Amino acid sequence: MSSIKISPSILSADFSKLGNEIKDLEKAGADLIHIDVMDGHFVPNITIGPEVIYQLRKYTSLPFDVHLMISPVHNFIKNFAEAGADIITIHPEATDDLTSSIEKIKSYNKKVGVSLNPETSVDEVLPVLNLIDLILVMSVNPGFGGQKFIENTLDKVKLLRKQIDNKKLKIQIEIDGGINFENSKKAIKAGVNILVSGTTIFKENKGNLKKNIQLLRIG
Ligand code: DX5
Ligand code: ZN
Repeated sequence: MSSIKISPSILSADFSKLGNEIKDLEKAGADLIHIDVMDGHFVPNITIGPEVIYQLRKYTSLPFDVHLMISPVHNFIKNFAEAGADIITIHPEATDDLTSSIEKIKSYNKKVGVSLNPETSVDEVLPVLNLIDLILVMSVNPGFGGQKFIENTLDKVKLLRKQIDNKKLKIQIEIDGGINFENSKKAIKAGVNILVSGTTIFKENKGNLKKNIQLLRIG
């Protein structure tokens, strides 16, 4: 796939002015806005919930790429769909019945993502390939920004890219965690077409969002 999309994670933004941060990301050329939702149970950190996403909706027309790190996730899907998420991504470990949670997301006309932790096998997602729009490959253990990229997660990307292309499916592969200007190239080469980045976009080059987004996109 040729066009690379950038989905900045607002986890590294200034939470006291999230609305303006999102506007700035749009001006800087972001394609999506990656929103990390954490519950202090599925992952050892707590971030934001649906009400904040609802309030943020008016600041941009960019798609909201909502990464749910909450368990059990099933009964909260409605809240995030109604708050204005465009893509809702869930972890297989966070639901008793992955297929029914996927169907629930689709019932709200939202795009569906399934996320694989570094330790989670691709076998978790292969049975549902025909039902989903996106696979989010975690290249760090979820919970915090600023962690070191786990190199061998690229093997998973290559494997998934092969499966998706062989089956002629249109599933996007997104990578999340520790992405910088060096490993972004490797990720793209492995078959990723959406890069998530928090630290690199907000902190490199004195926080020059436009420059950092451009540099990541070039690959
Ligand atoms: C980690 C989150 C990531 C994270 C990425 O649990 O899912 O989206 O914020 O941040 P960086 O780019 O700093 O690793
Ligand atoms: Zn994320």
